[in-house]
Amino acid sequence: MIPKLDWENLGFSYVRTNCHIQYIWRDGRWDEGKLVSEPFLSMHIAATSLHYGQAAFEGLKAFTCKDGEIRLFRPDMNGRRLGTTARRICMAEVPEAMFTDAVKRVVAANRDFVPPYGSGGSLYVRPLLIGTSAQIGIGPAQEYVFLVLVTPVGAYYKGGLKPVRAVVFDDYDRAAPHGTGHVKVAGNYAVSLEPHLLAHHRGFSVELYLDAKEHKYVEEFGTSNFIGITKDGRYVTPQSHSILPSITNDSLQQVARDLGMAVEVRPITFDELPDLAEIAACGTAVVITPVNEIVRGDRVVRVGPAEGCGPTLEKLYRHVTGIQVGEQPDTYGWCVKV
Ligand SMILES: Cc1ncc(COP(=O)(O)O)c(C=O)c1O
Repeated sequence: MIPKLDWENLGFSYVRTNCHIQYIWRDGRWDEGKLVSEPFLSMHIAATSLHYGQAAFEGLKAFTCKDGEIRLFRPDMNGRRLGTTARRICMAEVPEAMFTDAVKRVVAANRDFVPPYGSGGSLYVRPLLIGTSAQIGIGPAQEYVFLVLVTPVGAYYKGGLKPVRAVVFDDYDRAAPHGTGHVKVAGNYAVSLEPHLLAHHRGFSVELYLDAKEHKYVEEFGTSNFIGITKDGRYVTPQSHSILPSITNDSLQQVARDLGMAVEVRPITFDELPDLAEIAACGTAVVITPVNEIVRGDRVVRVGPAEGCGPTLEKLYRHVTGIQVGEQPDTYGWCVKV
């Protein structure tokens, strides 16, 4: 299928592509995997993914680079993180080499859907691992499906990095919505839907979670990590066992060090936010979203320029997106050719 897409104006929603790739784990081993054109799955009504949330997903991107090649950004990191999650919720593990191979195969089979260089778009890659066999007593499934779907997505920001407003709800349970900590469990995101919708309803783009015990320390935003720049130019980000180890955050930290900045991964209190010069949410979808206002009840924290992005975050954004599309040297071998 040759897609007729308006590359410059893609959003962030599902677009049907040629196929996804699907592997089955049965009798203790994975099959060879196959490309499947129908975007549907048939499984047992008592599958553990449906009843007990034995399911996990990942998210990464493929880019058309300046030299015309298609490259994935740090797929090994996603493979490793999925392994951590699989172990935590007792699922069959996807070997890292199989993970990267699966992603490469499905991207190659959907080459025509990778937005062109310069459009600002990319092919979003969504690996999913689920328990599919019947289990009525609580226990892990005996069979699993590992699939990877892809969909073209646009630049999150047309015409520059737009700052957004965030909210902290003191009347919500602040246990991180992703509860099990450090893992990306699919079902757990459902508990973040209500605060997220409420935030939107009240005019905020994102919600910020504090620690569950003392409500004192910053954890992360609903679907992204928290990063800040201090007034003397240090990169700070929370240390916590209940947030997702973001691959974007890891990459930004390395780039910040390479640009001569000090990087601090440490507990950050809500009270110190007004002392920061710049704040952002970071993750695969947007790389960096500047957050210039955080509202918590009667308190309003304003940080960074009212319009646009602060200079340090903008520099980091340009650098990382430059590496992704081959405009900056890939010093660490992060980009993997398809
Ligand atoms: C809860 C949460 N935190 C952080 C992130 C950012 O992680 P990454 O940079 O690996 O995309 C995500 C991305 O999906 C997320 O869902």
